[in-house]
Amino acid sequence: MLPSDTRVLADAEAVAAQACRLIAAAARAAIEERKGFRLVLAGGSTPRRTYELLAQTVREAKDWAAWEIFWGDERCLPVGHPGRNSRIAHDAWLAHVAIPARQVHPIPAELGAVPAAAAYAGTVRGQLPFDLVLLGMGEDGHTASLFPGRAGEGGLAVAVHDAPKPPAGRVSLNYPALRDCRSQLVLVTGTGKAAALAAWRAGDDVPIARAARGDAVLLVERACAG
Ligand code: 6PG
Repeated sequence: MLPSDTRVLADAEAVAAQACRLIAAAARAAIEERKGFRLVLAGGSTPRRTYELLAQTVREAKDWAAWEIFWGDERCLPVGHPGRNSRIAHDAWLAHVAIPARQVHPIPAELGAVPAAAAYAGTVRGQLPFDLVLLGMGEDGHTASLFPGRAGEGGLAVAVHDAPKPPAGRVSLNYPALRDCRSQLVLVTGTGKAAALAAWRAGDDVPIARAARGDAVLLVERACAG
């Protein structure tokens, strides 16, 4: 079953624009209520435009100092590699706004999946619940680096060695951590996602269905909404 708040939007740009608005609104509310905003970023290409818009439209946010950034997953690539999820967010957004570096927590995937997962579990343990978790979805229904057929056992963060989406080595927040938040925002764009979305809608046990809570907001591009 898809979340009750599923919004079908015209195209990927509309998804990014609404995602930016929702993230900014969640940040304002969290900072007003709790003086801080703990945000978990999604990887891959889908959220890149959202990150670019956050840099452009929230530039005047004097509250950048209250933002705390985490990642849902990272690929085991060298620091600074263009394929790292942290690099994608850095180039599109984080390099252009004044979030204090001590409040940006990339997953140290360059250490190797096992030590990085152990270290990141320690990083996030004291930060739960997150205020907002962003999730993408792959064409097989995976999210973060939680892939079909993997039980997802383990702690708050898990090492992945055989990811079907290269690179094989990854680190991912696990289901309990991705769900331990005040709200979730799932972004799905790309016609290749239509089958996975249909599987999720049909109630299949795909990773995104395990990770997304019933109260998540799902923004989906019309081209893949079926
Ligand atoms: C990754 C991402 C992954 C991504 C989906 C969708 O490291 O690849 O974390 O989970 O969110 O695969 O990828 P696209 O947004 O590129 O379609």
